[in-house]
Amino acid sequence: MWNLIFMIPMAKPYFDEKETLYVQEAVKSTWVSSKGSFLDTFSKKFAAFCNVKYASTISNGTAALHLALLALGVGHSHEVIVPDFTFAATANAVLHANAKPVLVDVERETGCITADAISKKITKRTKAIIPVHLYGHPCKMDEIMELANRHDISVVEDAAESHGAEVNKRRVGSFGHISCFSFYGNKIITTGEGGMCVTDDNELYAKMELLKNHGMTASRRYWHDVLGYNYRMTNLQAAVGVAQMEKIDFFINERIRIAKSYVYHLSDLKKQSIIELPACKPWAKNVYWMFNILIKNSKVSKQELMKSLVDSGIESRPFFYPLHRMPPYHSNEKFPVSDYISDHGISLPSYAGMEEKDIDYICDCIKKALS
Ligand SMILES: Cc1ncc(COP(=O)(O)O)c(C=O)c1O
Repeated sequence: MWNLIFMIPMAKPYFDEKETLYVQEAVKSTWVSSKGSFLDTFSKKFAAFCNVKYASTISNGTAALHLALLALGVGHSHEVIVPDFTFAATANAVLHANAKPVLVDVERETGCITADAISKKITKRTKAIIPVHLYGHPCKMDEIMELANRHDISVVEDAAESHGAEVNKRRVGSFGHISCFSFYGNKIITTGEGGMCVTDDNELYAKMELLKNHGMTASRRYWHDVLGYNYRMTNLQAAVGVAQMEKIDFFINERIRIAKSYVYHLSDLKKQSIIELPACKPWAKNVYWMFNILIKNSKVSKQELMKSLVDSGIESRPFFYPLHRMPPYHSNEKFPVSDYISDHGISLPSYAGMEEKDIDYICDCIKKALS
């Protein structure tokens, strides 16, 4: 139903016969809740993909972030550094852990936070940093980890949008003390709703497994030493996840193909400085979860462009609002880059299997609207 609203939607999950096959297998096995072989297979495959020792399946990406912070001991009186420009779930997880999100402005080209900007916000209360690999571009994790280690601060990578992105050929998810992923329907792989926490630390892994399962002691059923949550994924979701993992390289290559095609078609508008195209730093692999443009010098506003795309049957997406402007995270500090990016940016359709003729059509509509 949702996909029928637009001729070309923003996102569309890609399934083949494997998802159906594995879900049927899970149903037939009767293991439909939070135990079952697909959960083990999915976490093992995902840990191997990130090149880490442990992966814990979680009900969604927001719960994954919350759980990661709890496992790291983040709580009352602590500060956690987050970008001003991100999906609100990053800051919500901090607030749910009873800590204070400390907002940092982002870098103009990538929308990511940098070690330099973070360093100016570190105080005695800083317990953790959450770098967000935004829209598929990674943060410069080697520098962020060096800064965090120097100050004895924990790092939780928010890789919800960037499965497979790389920093100097090393995959995101393998840098932070814990890293979190989302498998929402529009993500690079999906389980419907779903998330994952990955880590190399067996104590943190054990803590997350305990907390996500009501805090129930593994060796003594129905005995709770700590207050926990139900943040478990189901075997049905994991069945979809295993089928998606078998295609993850294809999904990433598809996003890169689509980005290249958009760049090719929109380069004239870029040359005329009418729009700005996404960056890819020389040390980075951008997986282009979304393909974004910034409308720079045009008489046509972002809202007008989006409206004309709707009229042509094309869905687009406005950028996130800067966190500091919204009531739960309000701050009077200035975040000029985050403000600028948010006010000028839109995301264009991008999903595995998207046809070249659709990209061509979208770019034609954009050129007509902006020229
Ligand atoms: C940067 C970021 N962090 C966290 C999340 C939360 O993930 P979920 O929707 O699975 O809870 C998202 C989801 O869109 C996200 O984009």
